Amino acid sequence: MIRSELMARAVKIKKQNAEKVRRFLVKNGLIDFGYLPSSSKDFIFFPISDEKSVKIRQLIKSGEIEAIVNKKLKEQDRERVSLPPFDIIGGVAIFELPKEYKDKTDSEKEKIAKEIGKKILAHHKNITTAAFKTGGIKGPYRIRSFKIVSGKKSAFTLHKEMGCRFLIDVSKAYYSPRLSFERKRINSISKDGENVFVPFAGVGPFAIIIAKYHPNSTVYANELNPEAYKYLKENIKLNKLSNVIPIPGDARGLVEKYRRKADRIIMPLPMSADEFLDVAFALARKNCVVHFYFFAFSVKDAEEIVKQAAKKEKRKVKILFSRAVRAYSPEILEAVIDFKVID
Ligand SMILES: C[S@@+](CC[C@H](N)C(=O)[O-])C[C@H]1O[C@@H](n2cnc3c(N)ncnc32)[C@H](O)[C@@H]1O
Repeated sequence: MIRSELMARAVKIKKQNAEKVRRFLVKNGLIDFGYLPSSSKDFIFFPISDEKSVKIRQLIKSGEIEAIVNKKLKEQDRERVSLPPFDIIGGVAIFELPKEYKDKTDSEKEKIAKEIGKKILAHHKNITTAAFKTGGIKGPYRIRSFKIVSGKKSAFTLHKEMGCRFLIDVSKAYYSPRLSFERKRINSISKDGENVFVPFAGVGPFAIIIAKYHPNSTVYANELNPEAYKYLKENIKLNKLSNVIPIPGDARGLVEKYRRKADRIIMPLPMSADEFLDVAFALARKNCVVHFYFFAFSVKDAEEIVKQAAKKEKRKVKILFSRAVRAYSPEILEAVIDFKVID
């Protein structure tokens, strides 16, 4: 569908130069994809996103672009504007800049990100903040690195998943909508009446979902990051749950009070969950099921880590299920290993 004609800023280019200049504008993120180009007998008009760009000025100087003009252009069907994939957490969208911009300067990257952010906000009415990734997920609290480029300048939001509500400030605590399938899966195999332990609980998604759908279970949700812990407590209240017990601090602290109390343990700390397998074995009673998330080269490698740890702790385990949850990098995947502590 093509929409109405609107006045836009465009570069005027002789037809014989048009393809070369078009490629240059696309490569440098200078085309405004909100409009369609137009042509006259001798010229092509490309809509541009930044008329102050030094690069455009240089092409004017060299004669490859005739001028920047006001031009009536047809509005492009906004749904067809290509956007990079993005994560949505409540009203916050976080996207990665497409690879073709990776060699740009920081200010150029931000300019392109602003354009993308504006488009995301224009197309998705429920998104109020758009941000682009400026690095990986960092530190012991697993915080995302991003910069807000459009909309509200706050990453505080309300996210909904499986009928539960989660308040979170994405700049201060971890949340990944990409794990929603795993939360659904583990919720579906959990049994009502269990003692469930979630060390590394974050703002509570695993803990709160399981508690809501298993009212006779008791869920112990432990979290190290004080900000995430604050939201975990708020989210327990928000979801009106009396069967989630929040526990602040290091997961290692659980052992003293809860030795051999767990029927199920969920370990969503793939960066270093291996360092806490001794804690899981200490908490696990006979027949406890553990869901171990781990970054590894292969699912087999992650299984091997579980088997070695069991041997060290003199416990017997049976692997019930394992799979790659997602790619973490070209070489590394996130594996999940479900295992039962049979003795
Ligand atoms: C990858 S996040 C998972 C959060 C949540 N379970 C989710 O799925 O959204 C891991 C969480 O573990 C917490 N954490 C890291 N080390 C910890 C420790 N030693 N004891 C307890 N929590 C820890 C981090 O602060 C972070 O919130």
